[in-house]
Amino acid sequence: MTAGLPYANGNLHVGHIAGAYLPADIYVRYLRACGRDVAFICGSDDHGVPVLLRARKEDVEPQIVVDRFYAQHRTDFAGLGIEFDFYGQTSSPEHHEISQEFFRKVLEAGLLVKKSTEQLYDDGMEMFLPDRYVQGTCPHSDCGQPGALGDQCESCGRTVDPMELADPVSVLSGNRPVVRETSHWFFKLPELSSFLETWLEGHDEWRSAVRNFALGLVREGLVERSMTRDLEWGVPVPIEDAGASGKVLYVWFDAPIGYVTFTSQWCQEQGKGGDEVGKWWKDSDTRIVHFIGEDNTIFHAVIWPAMLKAEGSYCLPDQVVANSFLNIHWPGESEEQKISKSRGTAVWIKDFLSENDPDPLRYYLTAIAPENQRTTYKPEEFISRNNDELVATLGNFVHRTMTFAHKYCGGVVPEEEISSEADLDQIASVERLPERLSEEIEQFRFKSTLQLLMAEARRANQYFDASAPWKTRKEDLSTCRRTIRACLQTVSVLGMVMSPILPFASARIARMLGREESSWGWEYSSASLKGGEILGEAELLFRKIDV
Ligand code: MF3
Ligand code: ZN
Repeated sequence: MTAGLPYANGNLHVGHIAGAYLPADIYVRYLRACGRDVAFICGSDDHGVPVLLRARKEDVEPQIVVDRFYAQHRTDFAGLGIEFDFYGQTSSPEHHEISQEFFRKVLEAGLLVKKSTEQLYDDGMEMFLPDRYVQGTCPHSDCGQPGALGDQCESCGRTVDPMELADPVSVLSGNRPVVRETSHWFFKLPELSSFLETWLEGHDEWRSAVRNFALGLVREGLVERSMTRDLEWGVPVPIEDAGASGKVLYVWFDAPIGYVTFTSQWCQEQGKGGDEVGKWWKDSDTRIVHFIGEDNTIFHAVIWPAMLKAEGSYCLPDQVVANSFLNIHWPGESEEQKISKSRGTAVWIKDFLSENDPDPLRYYLTAIAPENQRTTYKPEEFISRNNDELVATLGNFVHRTMTFAHKYCGGVVPEEEISSEADLDQIASVERLPERLSEEIEQFRFKSTLQLLMAEARRANQYFDASAPWKTRKEDLSTCRRTIRACLQTVSVLGMVMSPILPFASARIARMLGREESSWGWEYSSASLKGGEILGEAELLFRKIDV
């Protein structure tokens, strides 16, 4: 499992988390609960123009910038419970070596060719202006939006050749660039297009938006794309050729190879030999799943698979799960907006975690998951869903069950056998839950997973209310204890199946039930409690948040 490598040029906000990292983490936690062998790989994308622009603004070396954001990203991810097996950096020597080797393989396969080409150049700054060093109007006629970046149009998601931008402007000087000759290595994508078309057609289990977008690009006709750049920061082009000096690999060539590098570094770290990386990348029994934000679709569903095919020794991805992004609607504003650093409309993870627990954010971002289209983050809605759903529904059910278990059942799971129809119904309902949730999770439908989970929590509260244990404890204690036994059983199943989305709350439930977190799998039987099991102390599951 991989999640798109964040650029090490800025902090993480809620849109990043909802788009790639949280869904990936949920899926990984689920697979682990099912006992599957998973490697969860990510790291920072240290190269490319975004990093250079930032370094320039701060007037420091790029390495200083990327090391700082690398550390902050790790802190943010850890704070949210997003736990990668390995979190690397593409500026590492290991990565340089592996991506250079990859480039050489594609060159040997005859799929990279050197060509002289014209490029935009900033006379005043005396440098070429690849990628995001230029902005202009999108050259795709059915789009034509202004503000397109020199590598990709943010409006239509397609890649852009800076030379085709209408009204190009240098981001460094604001000047209109001139055109100069240079030479670059081009990836012969057209030679792979019929392969890609067949391969994409075969993946009808993908989200249709991802597959259709990629197929559309391939059918529209792929062009040869330059995989090198005139820049000083990046992986040096690994060939003995006068033309290669002063050039680096295109950031979108080296970055996805980071998934391989980091897997390899992880294997090394565990003292496993070089072959181990092959288990993950070269064995057809391994499923490779990429979680990304939708603007990364072309790279993961077209160019990266083409690179893997060209290199020849690696497997291609089985799934590319792309999510859209979040808008944000601030209280008092008339409209929702895109999350933007410059306009100060972002909710930063660092800030969020300085005042809040992680689970409520994981909950809310799953509840509004942008799985099929953009959705909107509303700070007031975050608060109300925390208070009304996490606290008042899920938290309340666990709390009242634990209170009764300690007060009237001596802090152990009651020995009374469940027998009434209502109790048996309640058990039958939670018994089916793991399997019902599996169906959703395996289709990457995390929003509906959460809906089913919460519907079960509401049902559990209704069962508690209808059984009225506060009455039966006076009239017929053993009926009361049977109810609480069924409720504890429900708490246990809920605690198990919430673990991918709400891992911190799930761990607290495990403690309250006197269990080890690790004793849960994803089977009803592994959550099943026996009469006489000793419970732990009741703990607060969620806190009310003040407006
Ligand atoms: N850094 C890119 C972004 O934030 C994502 C790179 S994903 C990788 O959009 F596959 F290239 F690593
Ligand atoms: Zn466009």
